[in-house]
Amino acid sequence: MADENTIRRWNQEFNHKSPDEILRFFLGHFKDKIALSSSLGIEDQVLIRMVSKINKNTRIFTLDTGRLFPETYDLIERTANKYDIHIQVFFPDAREVEKMVYEKGINLFYESVENRKLCCAVRKLRPLVRAIEGLDAWITGLRKEQSETRNNLHVVEWDENNGLIKINPLLHWTEEEVKDYIDAHNIPYNPLYNKGYASIGCQPCTRAIEPGETLRAGRWWWENAEAKECGLHQR
Ligand code: ADX
Ligand code: SF4
Repeated sequence: MADENTIRRWNQEFNHKSPDEILRFFLGHFKDKIALSSSLGIEDQVLIRMVSKINKNTRIFTLDTGRLFPETYDLIERTANKYDIHIQVFFPDAREVEKMVYEKGINLFYESVENRKLCCAVRKLRPLVRAIEGLDAWITGLRKEQSETRNNLHVVEWDENNGLIKINPLLHWTEEEVKDYIDAHNIPYNPLYNKGYASIGCQPCTRAIEPGETLRAGRWWWENAEAKECGLHQR
């Protein structure tokens, strides 16, 4: 648990440091009380490579909603093999999913924003609670450029919703920088990315973006909401 002053000091110190320097410090500081949260997006692939170079035993987890793309499952396997690491997979509670699907239908999310948020809560937010249990900090691949709502984030945040510190080492990186790093280090990434999938979540809720569209326009594409978030980072 860190107080406001410590978080402010860390932000002053690390705001302009490289992702590698940020990761080295916080992995060392929080030891086994920190984990990387990965959706296997391009940002997370960069972070997986970086953390496994620093400490192969860093905990890395992903939340498998049960509705991911086949390409994402393949990537979990390829990444774990390439870096010789374990990616811990968290699943939703089977009974909760069964009840939700029985009551609201298998594709409930298209019906209303309320249904969509329920599905994200059951399939992502509740498993996240288990994934971060006992941790003091989690690392994410959030970048400012991804959306207006992410533009005011800091490298170190107090995550009020989840009650722990959130570290965003790639916050200031552009998509170009992420892609260059991936190419330079031959990092495996989701083949859907080259087909226009700039941000990849669950299969039924993600489409490719058209030229000129914002990076997250393909997420929950049928919704008109300004801030498209599943609740992991903003509720
Ligand atoms: S989301 O909130 O809309 O789903 P996004 O896909 O942009 O988030 O990913 C931002 C960061 O949230 C990722 O870099 C990763 O750290 C975390 N994240 C998102 N989805 C997952 C997931 N399914 N499992 C683990 N971490 C995730
Ligand atoms: Fe459900 Fe779609 Fe949210 Fe995935 S993104 S948990 S399928 S509503």
